[in-house]
Amino acid sequence: MTLAGKRALVTGAASGIGRATAIRLAAEGALVTIGDINAAGLEETAAKMALPPRIQPFDASDYASCQALVAAAASDGLDVVCNVSGILKWGPSLDFSMEDFDRILRINTSSVFAICQAALPHLIKSKGNVVNTASTAALQGIAYTVAYAASKHAVAGITKSLAVEFAQLGVRINAICPGHVNTPMGNAPPPPGDVDWALVMRNAPKLENGSCEPEDIAELFAFLASDRARKITGALFTADGGQLAG
Ligand SMILES: NC(=O)c1ccc[n+]([C@@H]2O[C@H](COP(=O)([O-])OP(=O)(O)OC[C@H]3O[C@@H](n4cnc5c(N)ncnc54)[C@H](O)[C@@H]3O)[C@@H](O)[C@H]2O)c1
Repeated sequence: MTLAGKRALVTGAASGIGRATAIRLAAEGALVTIGDINAAGLEETAAKMALPPRIQPFDASDYASCQALVAAAASDGLDVVCNVSGILKWGPSLDFSMEDFDRILRINTSSVFAICQAALPHLIKSKGNVVNTASTAALQGIAYTVAYAASKHAVAGITKSLAVEFAQLGVRINAICPGHVNTPMGNAPPPPGDVDWALVMRNAPKLENGSCEPEDIAELFAFLASDRARKITGALFTADGGQLAG
């Protein structure tokens, strides 16, 4: 139990990677607050966790809601923050609305900073850490995915910049860059419109059955959140079945 007694916050915990991460952290002994806009999904996640979590619905597009989530999670102190909430919308760039572009940046990027900013005073006290969720789309361009790729490149920037600023205060900040993961987001139907699939599929996984399961990503969250990763900060960890290998 590498996280025994650690107080953790996991966002996006109603589904997919966030759910698997909340379950995994609790199995490691962490006392977890789970946040998501989907309150019913949070209840389902809670039923699968080894230790009962604090359930705190929130809306990542509302910064006051992000701050309230952190305040609830940190009421007894805070050691670990896993930012997992996110949305994906993609399609031909000439038809992509600015409203969708702004919403993706707000939920995937600005909320990550809002949560980190609210959590850092607590993490300085506990010498804790943050694990953000970026993507292989943080490290390469992906056709028809401009807003999402921009949002995840920005998460990489937030991660590395905060890591430099807070390293001397004992806070570690890292990010995970999953490739394709079998979740509702990962398996969402393609957008309407003309899409050249050869462009989309340029970086298929190289491993046989190379798509990840949410538990594969949760494994990395549990490692980076623990003291086993005590020398790791400002790092971006790819877990992608070799998508970016070449
Ligand atoms: N699935 C993939 O292939 C993949 C690949 C790379 C990165 N990611 C990233 O992993 C993270 C988790 O994605 P997932 O695949 O588990 O998807 P998912 O759709 O299963 O889960 C995303 C969660 O975020 C929540 N969410 C959405 N909007 C929200 C809001 N406004 N406020 C609070 N919560 C909100 C959803 O309710 C959902 O529970 C995301 O940041 C995503 O960008 C996923």
